[in-house]
Amino acid sequence: MSGNRIADLTRRSLLRGAAALTGATLLPRQVMANPDFRLIPKPAKVALIGKPHPETAVWAYNELVPGPPIRVQQGDRLKVPVENQLAEETTVHFHGIRLPNAMDGVPHLTQTPIAPGGEFVYEFTVPDAGTYWYHPHQRSAEQVGRGLCGALIVEEREPIRVDRDVAWLLQDWRLQPDAQIRNDFGNMHDMAHNGRVGNTVTINGNVRDTFAVRSGERIRLRLINGANARVFGLSFAGHRPRVIALDGQPVEPHEPSDGRVVLAPGMRMDLILDMAANLGERFQVVDNFYRGLTYRLIDLVYADTPYRDHIPDTPIALAPNTMPEPDLNGAQRHEVTFNGGMMGQMMMQGRGMAGMNMRDMMHSGKIWFINGVAMLGHVMDPMLTLTQGHSYVLAMVNETAWWHPMHLHGHAFRVISRNGAPIRYREWQDTVLMAPRETVEIAFVADNPGDWMFHCHILEHQESGMMGVIRVT
Ligand code: C2O
Ligand code: CU
Repeated sequence: MSGNRIADLTRRSLLRGAAALTGATLLPRQVMANPDFRLIPKPAKVALIGKPHPETAVWAYNELVPGPPIRVQQGDRLKVPVENQLAEETTVHFHGIRLPNAMDGVPHLTQTPIAPGGEFVYEFTVPDAGTYWYHPHQRSAEQVGRGLCGALIVEEREPIRVDRDVAWLLQDWRLQPDAQIRNDFGNMHDMAHNGRVGNTVTINGNVRDTFAVRSGERIRLRLINGANARVFGLSFAGHRPRVIALDGQPVEPHEPSDGRVVLAPGMRMDLILDMAANLGERFQVVDNFYRGLTYRLIDLVYADTPYRDHIPDTPIALAPNTMPEPDLNGAQRHEVTFNGGMMGQMMMQGRGMAGMNMRDMMHSGKIWFINGVAMLGHVMDPMLTLTQGHSYVLAMVNETAWWHPMHLHGHAFRVISRNGAPIRYREWQDTVLMAPRETVEIAFVADNPGDWMFHCHILEHQESGMMGVIRVT
């Protein structure tokens, strides 16, 4: 465990070398007008940390970490040929997009995985504006953990006015002192605890020291958590970010509770950051989600000249997307219970685990259970079969001692209560973070036919059982 801690990797000294990258934090625009655009996953070398550290051997789309950002407009048709130059099968999942099932990128369930040397063309219309991302769904813990993922941004037809639209794709790496990825994917400890929490966080593929801003600017900051397991809890010193969208879906603009932005793997958050401090000032963005693992992510550094003298008071609320509203009175209710994982030295007891001891568990690779079933691989009888067009409430009961960001494919759902208390903004999300022993209710209309994955986005939990199929028919 000790090797996994940020503090152990002399992050300070690693950071010095990256100072030169200041200001490069804006994702370049890659509009899909380019007819030759394709994604090519393959091994590559990239400078994650910067000099004097060597480059890191990764798996990357088009040799870029993160992969090329895809930007389209709401309602556009997106066509992405994928040419697999890895030595193993892969797929691409467009996380959060409500697309047809056959384009969902789940191996064996929705498509034959793309063989090494093979190709698959993803093509679909993007119904909703917002911040999304793409990543493999084949052996995701290792394929994502080695670098495969990218931003997918769907612009509003009538965007709000901001001075800069910036995306930060956050990734978390477990690096050795030689800057190479530690090859301990799929180990029992990660799977039965927090997942593969690493020791090096990158923003758009680099360890960064500063983000240059100017007094008077309004920035739309799109955060994407592409980490295997790390949950971020970000505080922006001296600033009051307002949330305008969660998982791509607009929400009434508001400051997060305690001012802290909590973002679990798979989740996205759009913030409005008004840069109202003085010329030349510097503020830390700190991640303090895990007790004892607090670190400074980056500094906001004000230029010596202002952008303008005050921030214009233009509206920041986004136009809603097109989700059908669930009918809470007529909704059918299902309870979904989560068990498993370690608690101190003990395996958690619960449904599905009767008669299993730890050794059985480790041998079978079954560590996490949904309604008593640990799903390994992507094909299984559905845990729920829902009728197309009907409304459902899922009461998710986390009986484990761990955090779990639960992701549903093909839909967005409203989060309506936590531990029985109604949620103020009833956010639309596709990935909802459950605290240890928390009960979370979500509601949605099952309007998209097909077999959809429902899984924890801590990829080590997913791989060791915390996954199920929800069928809409
Ligand atoms: Cu982002 Cu099933 O995944
Ligand atoms: Cu989990």
